[in-house]
Parts: sequence; structure tokens; C-alpha cells
Amino acid sequence: MTETRHFLEIDDVSTDELHEILDRADEYKRAQHAGEPHEDLEGQTLGMIFQKPSTRTRVSFETGMTQLGGHAVFLGEDDIQLGRGEPLKDTARTLSRYVDAVMARVFKHENIEVLADYSSVPVVNGLTDDAHPCQTLADLQTIRELEGGFEDVQAAWIGDGNNVAQSFAIGCARTDVDLTIATPEGYEVDDDVIERARDLGGDPTTTTDPLEAAADADVIYTDVWISMGQEDERDVRMQAFDGFQVNEELLECAPDASVMHCLPAHRGEEITDAVVESDQSVVFEQAENRLHAQKALLSWLLE
Ligand code: CP
Ligand code: NVA
Repeated sequence: MTETRHFLEIDDVSTDELHEILDRADEYKRAQHAGEPHEDLEGQTLGMIFQKPSTRTRVSFETGMTQLGGHAVFLGEDDIQLGRGEPLKDTARTLSRYVDAVMARVFKHENIEVLADYSSVPVVNGLTDDAHPCQTLADLQTIRELEGGFEDVQAAWIGDGNNVAQSFAIGCARTDVDLTIATPEGYEVDDDVIERARDLGGDPTTTTDPLEAAADADVIYTDVWISMGQEDERDVRMQAFDGFQVNEELLECAPDASVMHCLPAHRGEEITDAVVESDQSVVFEQAENRLHAQKALLSWLLE
């Protein structure tokens, strides 16, 4: 029997596997735009556990399963017994008897690891406090489309060293994208993420200067300063991130850069409305690629 593969972190797949998934994502995108049927997961079901809200992740996974000829079941925490205290390990073993794969958005990263440990079907991380690897798949697909490949691409992360930043840093290391991460002191990506990136052959530069990161970047990426679950830290975070906004002034040093954001964007905080709406913004291309990249991931995991 083959071992069940899970996708909890972007480095759960090898470099070759990552490229295979991205190629498949491009093919699904082409097929969908051409109106060609691609029902590769006919009759299969994805269970989707959500402990936090979502627009893109929920809709792209559900729509993706439909387009692949399968079905998705939305399992909000309070709609299932998890919300009344049923342990994750029991939820995982029960769902494994019904569905072909589980996608989960949870708070603590350990919780998705518990789900995977007890699940006999693939578990996909739909965001934890520490990682957002499905977002990174779509981001890498987007960068490859924009730049024609990963070679000589310079990326800048500006803002919070959060879940999206951490998976992106590892994704850049996997694809040899040169990354500079600018965060305020105290909001850096975790040391172990930098170590994992280095183990993969990457060498992310870290700085507290957003202008240094943005200078000559091909891609500038930011995300919210207050992630889901950090609402109580709002005042202190707003102060800490002063000067880290991706705005027109910052873009003066990178006039040709594409601006990325995983969305939802908080205009007036980490990014301005003018930048989101500008020609440099590729945020909706990224959002679209969530659909194609996740279809590729699911069909790859389930074949
Ligand atoms: N980027 C992203 O994961 O968006 P949602 O929170 O809307 O799913
Ligand atoms: N960092 C954000 C990403 C949302 C998609 C959060 O965790 O809330």
C-alpha cells in the first residue's frame, strides 16, 4: 500500500513534484479557459473544515472539485461536532471513512498535523497560523506566468513575517527565487523557516528597511498586518508596521514590479487603494490561480 501524502507545508513536495503540480495547474487553467472538460476526480469528495472565515480558499476548493467532476462538503467548525469538543483525531478518522481528501483551515499548526496523523486520506493545509502553502502554489504559478520562469527573479516581502510570508519564503527557496524580507523588529519570519529555506538552497535576506527590499524587485508582496486571530493586537501592530505600507511612494523605486497580495487587502493599512487598483497589481491573477493550483494539487494527491 502506498503511503498517504499530505500537503501541510510547501516543502512537503520535492522540487520536481512542485514543478509537476505547477505544470498541471497551467494545463487546468488552459483547459478551463478553453471550456474543455477535465473531470479527473469524478465521484470523489473533499471535506473542508473551517475554523476561520474564508472567501478564496472556500470557493476555489469547492468550485475546483465541481470542475473536476467531484464534490466538496463545507464543514464549518460550529456545524460539526468539532465545535462541541469532539477531538480532531476522532474527526480525522471519521472523515477518512467518508471522503477522499480533507482540506482544513485551523488556528494552531499542530492541529493540522494531528488531522494528518490520524487521517488515512490526504490532508491539505488551507491556512494555519504558521503556513499557507496553497497560497504559495498560486503565487508561484503567478510569478512563473509573469516572469516566464523563476530564474533571476527578485522578490520582496514587505510587512508581517506571517503564515503567508513563511510559506512564500520556503516556496522561493524551492524555486530559486531571490527573496528579501522586510519586517519590523519582532515580526520576522520564524528562524526555523529561514533555516528550512537555507536547507533547500535558498538564502533569504532579512532587513527592517522596506525600501531596501523593494529596490529593483520584480515582485513586491504584502499581506495584512493583523491576521485572523490577532485582532486584540491591533493597536500595537498598527504602530509597529508604520512605514511598511506598500504605496505609490514605495513603488517609485520599483516601477516595473508586480504587486502581490494574497487578499483580503486592508486598504489604507498594508497597501493603498491606488496600488491595489494600479496596473502593477496582480492580486486577482493570484486569486484566480488559487483555483487552478489547488485543482492540480488535489488531482496529483488523489491519482
Ligand atoms: N488568500 C486567502 O486564503 O483568502 P481567503 O481567506 O479568502 O480564503
Ligand atoms: N495572514 C492572513 C492571511 C489571510 C488569507 C491571515 O492569516 O489572516
